[in-house]
Amino acid sequence: MRLWGGRFGDGPDARMADFTRSIEVDAELALDDIAGSIAHVRGLARAGLVTAEEALALEDGLVSLREDVVGGRVAWDPALEDVHMNLETMLTERVGAVGGKLHTGRSRNDQVATDLRLWTRRAIGRLDEGIVALERALIDLAERDGDTVLPGTTHIQPAQPVLFAHHLLAYVEMLERDRGRLADARRRLNLSPLGSGALAGAGYPLDRETTAAELGFDGVTANSLDATSDRDFVVEVLSAAALAMVHLSRFAEEITWWSNPRFGFVRVADAFSTGSSMMPNKKNPDPAELVRGRSAGVIGALTSTLALIKGLPLAYQRDLQEDKPAFFAALATLDASLGVMAGLVETLAVNRSRMQEAAEEGYTTATALADALVRRGVPFRAAHHIVGGLVGGAEAEGKRTLAQLPDEAFRAALDGSDDATARRLAHEKGIAHALREAATVEGSLASADVTGGTAPARVAAALARAKARLSA
Ligand code: ARG
Repeated sequence: MRLWGGRFGDGPDARMADFTRSIEVDAELALDDIAGSIAHVRGLARAGLVTAEEALALEDGLVSLREDVVGGRVAWDPALEDVHMNLETMLTERVGAVGGKLHTGRSRNDQVATDLRLWTRRAIGRLDEGIVALERALIDLAERDGDTVLPGTTHIQPAQPVLFAHHLLAYVEMLERDRGRLADARRRLNLSPLGSGALAGAGYPLDRETTAAELGFDGVTANSLDATSDRDFVVEVLSAAALAMVHLSRFAEEITWWSNPRFGFVRVADAFSTGSSMMPNKKNPDPAELVRGRSAGVIGALTSTLALIKGLPLAYQRDLQEDKPAFFAALATLDASLGVMAGLVETLAVNRSRMQEAAEEGYTTATALADALVRRGVPFRAAHHIVGGLVGGAEAEGKRTLAQLPDEAFRAALDGSDDATARRLAHEKGIAHALREAATVEGSLASADVTGGTAPARVAAALARAKARLSA
């Protein structure tokens, strides 16, 4: 007999039952459902709705059920529709008629809302650990190979040299914000809907606050209609998860380029690569590609959940059952992606000389050279023009870097300027030497000496701060 079968004559059509049931998905909530039930039973006892002995029998039954769920000994019955009715039925089989008192003052609507908040809280805890582990891997790599220089790009073209550590720490910053967004969502979702009933509020004087506290909630939801039908927390967490996946995807994209032999900046470990069934030469960074690919599904989960909710009147509508499949899958994807990216980073081999060599290509020190002229009193616009001329000359003469230009080239460029200060500098002793120093990779790095810049001392400080933040 269906738990809700009282008013029904005919049993459910098989097509309807198959279509509406959710046990395959919401069995995931079993432990949270049991935790919620135990707290609810205690609340019923406090309100005098079950005796102390009844409460004990119910709680013992729920505890034994929990052991069987944890031990994988529970067989879910598809005919019982969802996890809530499966567990209630199993409980009643174990404890007898008193099982029929469990659902007093509770609806599956406040129940599933409670379960999902508890589940989400646990999921956020796991994700936070995963993010921290990836941050640690990035920080370790930054400490190991971070003094290597990378050609920083904009428009994918060589722009300015940056320390590899600086590049890695950019992702640490993104991941820290991802952690912050999840923590922020957790803070808002950590309220108990129990006691909201189906929509109007439970018909008994339940002490919702104590039950909430037992479940580790910070308080209770303020409106029963909202509490039973709101899934903002799912959207918030999915939004944070989608953004985190986008961050991982950007990094994954860089790994695929860097590991291409044309770049040769890094080697992905064999353990994080796959081969081709046809081409014996192939070694592919598949985990990175799949992180990039699976980010699509997480973005999809966010948009599908927003679309799911947008047309729903208050309060609970069965549509809300569809909040779970994409949500569960999305957070599992993020969790697994964090793990595989951490492994990939931990085992990444860095080719320092290839990076260093590339860092100088494309006259990446030109901005530092212009800045050196500005420091000697040349207006920036004039300096930009002078250095632009030097770059053009170097390119025409097949010089790979600005530092390779002869003294004469520096003096001629200054002398040809329409800026009087620059023309005066052309005749200053040692000027070519000083400018050539400024135009080295080291000179360029050292000049970005601001908070958040890539000057080695700044990066060392940022690295120390990132480490301290993680251990705080
Ligand atoms: N399986 C349902 C869900 O996930 C549980 C709540 C069902 N409530 C109801 N009134 N049919 O949303």
